[in-house]
Amino acid sequence: MTERETWATRAGFIVAAVGSAVGLGNIWQFPFKTAQFGGASFLIVYIVAALGIGLPAILAEFVIGRKANLNTISAFEKLGYKEWRVVGAIGLFTGFWILSYYSVVGGWVLRYIGGSLTGAYFAAPAEYFGQVSAGMEALALHAVFMALVVGIVAAGIEDGIEKATKLMVPSIVVILAALAVFAFTLPGASAGYAYFLSPDFNALSENFAEIVPFAVGQAFFSLSLGMGAMITYASYIDGDQSLFGDGITIVFLNSFVGILAGLVVLPLLFAQGIDPNTSGAGAVFISVAGAFGDIPGGQIIGFVFFAVVLIAALSSAISLLEVVVSWAIDNYDVSRPQMAIGLGGTIFLLGVPSAIDSAWLGWFDTLAYQLLLPLSVLGILVFAAWVYGAPAIDELMKGSGLGEGVGLTWLWLARTLVIVAVVATLALGLQTLFLGESPAIVPPL
Ligand code: PHE
Repeated sequence: MTERETWATRAGFIVAAVGSAVGLGNIWQFPFKTAQFGGASFLIVYIVAALGIGLPAILAEFVIGRKANLNTISAFEKLGYKEWRVVGAIGLFTGFWILSYYSVVGGWVLRYIGGSLTGAYFAAPAEYFGQVSAGMEALALHAVFMALVVGIVAAGIEDGIEKATKLMVPSIVVILAALAVFAFTLPGASAGYAYFLSPDFNALSENFAEIVPFAVGQAFFSLSLGMGAMITYASYIDGDQSLFGDGITIVFLNSFVGILAGLVVLPLLFAQGIDPNTSGAGAVFISVAGAFGDIPGGQIIGFVFFAVVLIAALSSAISLLEVVVSWAIDNYDVSRPQMAIGLGGTIFLLGVPSAIDSAWLGWFDTLAYQLLLPLSVLGILVFAAWVYGAPAIDELMKGSGLGEGVGLTWLWLARTLVIVAVVATLALGLQTLFLGESPAIVPPL
């Protein structure tokens, strides 16, 4: 067997992980929910959730991945807990499942890049979305998006994912910042900032029971937890860098991009007098797209905006294909490109129903959010904090230069508060799934 690949640099790992984290969730969910749930006051709740619950959970994945240097299933066996491979398998399956329809959405984004240049959706954005989001064209573009993902993953860790994300992640930040500056110049934009960020403690306290689970669910999803992605990416780390430092950097950058996205979309909508009180696919593909029809240079601005959405979606999607490819090449004697093509093709097929009919897409998405993701995160946490325990602290502290107290704090947070939060998320998810009640944890696409 050939030697297992590694990241060329520490920054390479961080950037790839940020690429995975920064995705559609940051652009079409985060800004709108922040505004709706109390602006700056919600941001405080979100940041507490991301640091207090998301960070310990992402560190658990890092520890497992780096310690084992193996894919998300074999890692558990390598650490001496063969039966726990089932947890890895749930994560791998979850990633596989999510990528099948995420790629369909990636295809829509491709369509909107073209549609911006020709102005095709300017006149009737809602009808346009209806036409292109399901059917043969959606299927063809799902194939194109998947082919892009396969192309990057086939090129490998250092030459594919690391090089691509080193280009993609800075581009996302720079382009979003430029768009935010542009949005700032539009007359009427200031109402958007007020809507997005002004603290509203009433909105926060009235909906607290809905907001807390949302913040937690969003932190998990947005940090790409429970999909095997962070275990897999950490398995390619070579050396003893501070996982703690990396985790904080990733959580910070991920939230930063969400805020930056809000500084683009909300001023844009307010400047055009479009009701921003929506979220999910409709927010970006109908409301934001609709705004481009009326602003000067809308064709170019729309093109640039959807290009950035595409980059964000691609850099997330490659992390999911890598989960399965990594498992396959660790275990079977096949080449990376062959596996990337074979598994990418299989995921494409799984996504066919979602491309043909949006109801399927919604069902796939609901199952992933309400059941698969929280279940997978729960398994990983119980394993890392309760089963693996002390060696996990050693792995976490390696190269960090921090005192033992930090490791113990992590362990006890992960053992208690974080697990309670995940169990609550899972319970709410199951309730929604079976009874159709209670707020959705992360509202479906
Ligand atoms: N963190 C990603 C996002 O915000 C979640 C994700 C990762 C989804 C990978 C799909 C694939 O969009």
